[in-house]
Amino acid sequence: MKKTLSTLFILLVMATVAITDSTSFTIHVIGDSTVATYKSSVYPQTGWGQVVGSFFNESQVLINNVAIGGRSSKTFFTDGRLAALKSQVKPGDYLFVQFGHNDRYFGSNARQVPLDSFAYFLKIYLDSAKSWNAIPVLVSPMVMNAWSNGTMRNVFTENGSDYRGVMEKLAKEQDVAFIDLNMRSYEDCKKWGQTYITSFLYHHYDVGDYPNWPQGSNDGTHFQENGSVSNARWIANEIASLSSSTYLSNQTKQNLLPLISSLKPHYVVTVKANKSVSGLISKTASFPAGAPLTLRVKPASGETFEYWADADCRQVSTSQIYYGIQAPGKPTTYTAMFKGGSACVQASVPSSSSNEVSSSSSVEVSSSSVIVIRPEILSWVDMANPDSGSGTTDVNHEGYTGEGFWNIENALGSKAFYQLESKNASTNAVMAIRYANGSTETRSMKVTLDGWTYSVVFPPTETWATWDTIFVEDVWVDAVSMPLVIESTSETGGPNIDALGLSVLGLTREGSITSIEMISKNKSLLFSNNNPVQILLFDALGTCFLNQQFSSFEYENFMSSLAPGVYYIKGIQEGKTFFEQRVTKKK
Ligand code: GCU
Repeated sequence: MKKTLSTLFILLVMATVAITDSTSFTIHVIGDSTVATYKSSVYPQTGWGQVVGSFFNESQVLINNVAIGGRSSKTFFTDGRLAALKSQVKPGDYLFVQFGHNDRYFGSNARQVPLDSFAYFLKIYLDSAKSWNAIPVLVSPMVMNAWSNGTMRNVFTENGSDYRGVMEKLAKEQDVAFIDLNMRSYEDCKKWGQTYITSFLYHHYDVGDYPNWPQGSNDGTHFQENGSVSNARWIANEIASLSSSTYLSNQTKQNLLPLISSLKPHYVVTVKANKSVSGLISKTASFPAGAPLTLRVKPASGETFEYWADADCRQVSTSQIYYGIQAPGKPTTYTAMFKGGSACVQASVPSSSSNEVSSSSSVEVSSSSVIVIRPEILSWVDMANPDSGSGTTDVNHEGYTGEGFWNIENALGSKAFYQLESKNASTNAVMAIRYANGSTETRSMKVTLDGWTYSVVFPPTETWATWDTIFVEDVWVDAVSMPLVIESTSETGGPNIDALGLSVLGLTREGSITSIEMISKNKSLLFSNNNPVQILLFDALGTCFLNQQFSSFEYENFMSSLAPGVYYIKGIQEGKTFFEQRVTKKK
């Protein structure tokens, strides 16, 4: 029986039970100027609340940084800023609270909080979070760049003024997560030494270091971007250890699980030099994909820095401060090249690999309530127009998505090149390629994504207007721009290529439309003839709650009929899957 949209609307109203994405939450960040978000006009000054987001899976976690300079645990509250947050907090959100810098005694000051009142004010944040069904997390204040006779001071614990200790004691009494940023930063900064942390972590610049600070800056309280990334890393490492905490109740650990499990993996960025130089050079450290990265050298007198070389020994910058780059989603190496040093040695990179592929044609579509689909393919790009390549963009076979398909030249070694961007990284992504192979033979291609090569075999699809999707497992995806090259491995060339999808959110290509637009703008292409369309709708857990034939399908209307939540939607026409896509309907 054919149904129209109005019937669908009624169906959906009935079917929208428990389909919100339970893994999504917001971290509300409360604190002072060491945490706050800064304008680009003062770059590289940065607070950790500004960069902590790249340590979490961006598709699950939002950061709401409401930290503001000059506030103590008292004045943030008396300003009405905690009360103002109430309307933004959802059950299951987290409230990170860091105070101490303005609470500490500086002489008579309205914002000051004496040590014996610190717990009183902090507890207001814990009580508010709990009353909003949010999970509070206390973050102890990171150290200041204070030294005495060559020994690092910890201004938050010394001289009977133990703000850190008061916070820890309260956290334990209240069964609240305690992130000991104070101790982590103290231990590492002490080890790294005053000279290094002054110029590489704190908001301290020499004349000429950064265009926004022509006169330089001398500040041992605030941080440059690299310092705030270090603070965020210490925080992330503390979060990772919470599950083995001995003071938290099982219930609180349970509440912290979404936070802990949304942490992204870190990869080591090795920084070395081509000679043993005296002077300073960025320390080797680990970063999640997409975190801001700054590489810096401060050569000792008599040394001449020439350039930065990447893992392949390519020259990437001649600047002593190389900034504005992002950490890749894999281990990498940078070498600081100095005059008179040895030649650059290529870091051993994982060699190209061949991967097993599986065709979707074996996926069974039944009318039972649970259907195996590939919901992990979260974003698609149209492949009709490569940046360069031998072949043509064609529209002469129906059933393609987007602006057409790429018909690669039938020749051994024919290629097409696409520049892709991915917001997220993964070491074991699934890549999907939608294709048609109307010949009677399989066709093979080498698909190279960011230097990794996968051999993909495309079985025949009967006709050139019959489209199928092939899946490649264990694909390495960087959270940066990635070149994609497809190359025929025989004289018959490759199949016609329609679209490419990945199991990470946020895959895009400049000048190319995305899958959602493919569906909404070109619905007539998707549903090219008047044959009925079968629409399957799955909840966030993959359970199918709608499997219906429609005579017409209007994507926009369909979306507006959905209750807020996360869905997988799959469209089938004439027995073939036309698209499968994760969609988020916002409130
Ligand atoms: C046919 C078909 C093309 C296809 C070609 C091929 O000409 O129309 O779309 O690309 O075969 O063998 O590759």
